[in-house]
Amino acid sequence: MNILLTGGAGYIGSHTAVVLVQAGHKIVIYDNFCNSSKPTIDNLESVVKQKVSVVEGDIRNTSLLAQTLKQFSIDAVIHFAGLKAVGESVQEPLNYYENNVQGTLSLLRAMNELCVKNIVFSSSATVYGDPQYLPIDEAHPLAPTNPYGRTKLHIEQILEDQTKADIDFKVVNLRYFNPVGAHASGLLGENPKGTPNNLTPFIARVASGDLQELNIFGNDYPTEDGTGVRDYIHVEDLADGHVAALNFLSHTVGFETFNLGTGNGCSVLQMIVAYKKASGKKIPYRIVSKRPGDIASCYAAPTKANQILKWKAGRTLQEMCESSWAFQQYLKNSHPVSANTQ
Ligand code: NAD
Ligand code: UD1
Repeated sequence: MNILLTGGAGYIGSHTAVVLVQAGHKIVIYDNFCNSSKPTIDNLESVVKQKVSVVEGDIRNTSLLAQTLKQFSIDAVIHFAGLKAVGESVQEPLNYYENNVQGTLSLLRAMNELCVKNIVFSSSATVYGDPQYLPIDEAHPLAPTNPYGRTKLHIEQILEDQTKADIDFKVVNLRYFNPVGAHASGLLGENPKGTPNNLTPFIARVASGDLQELNIFGNDYPTEDGTGVRDYIHVEDLADGHVAALNFLSHTVGFETFNLGTGNGCSVLQMIVAYKKASGKKIPYRIVSKRPGDIASCYAAPTKANQILKWKAGRTLQEMCESSWAFQQYLKNSHPVSANTQ
């Protein structure tokens, strides 16, 4: 298939690009590089050992999107492009609605014009809000607690409405849990701008000596060791989930949602132990107060994806930490790059 990857230069998109090329698909990356960098494309090409088509553009540019869909005879779109920082979305909600929701409407307009009827959407477990029960299945009530999460829910609803209006329009809606780790080559991974907000990139920088210590946000949660529990999933497993989603799209109708997670909860302290083992480095930490809005535990029931998509996240926590550490070493040894995601 000819597949357009909006946001394909980003963290999850670049890993997915690799597995799609390896599965024999032709890909086109459409990205405005607002949260990624061009050297990522060079590294991607080194990994897949071939040139990759890239269009630099914004998803809000409907005519450029339409032109791209036509030029490359696109059969399906995987829609990664979006802004994703929760804190920033609270400060700048209009930018988030404009980029994520308006951007998706623009994409759908272009797809409609060119009769492209297949889309896989990058949603998030954040749409569930505070878990009412665990593990979280796809039927769990939806109550996002921040503007970022609400943009994801709005987009899900828009996509579902469109499948009702047009019986040929098909959507696989993927709700990711916590993607971590990096590509086995050590060339692709996540490298956030400034001080990382998320746990694993923060630990990676502590292990490499760039940051002094990790602040653990609370140790009196009702979890086994008192620290927050999440469902960390290796980004390469997540990438494989997109190939499975595309296969499913070809013999389905309407709108279908799948959780992509491992089903296993891992605490902050467990992550520190695993990362220490992977890197051979000390991870100094101290306990500080809880982060506002944080929840105790969140992990997926991935049964639906396991059964229907015939996909399962198989890589271990150790592999997640080892690959993250290998990428951290690569960043340290390579020449500094101009943007954040390499
Ligand atoms: P990322 O920031 O690394 O990648 C997103 C890409 O989209 C970037 O390359 C960015 O430049 C591009 N982009 C953003 N706005 C654009 C626009 N208007 N036009 C064109 N390109 C644009 O993020 P990621 O971690 O790879 O996430 C991919 C998707 O998955 C996002 O939609 C995100 O919300 C979702 N998601 C991510 C996580 C996570 O923890 N990483 C979890 C759940 C869901
Ligand atoms: C964050 C996002 C969420 C997104 C998810 C997936 C927030 C509020 N939420 O959630 O929308 O879907 O990532 O990537 O940003 N922790 C520390 N110290 C740190 C960083 C984190 O102790 O410096 C703890 C947190 O309290 C939490 C766990 O580590 O218990 C994971 O945190 P994080 O990586 O930020 O992910 P989420 O909180 O799940």
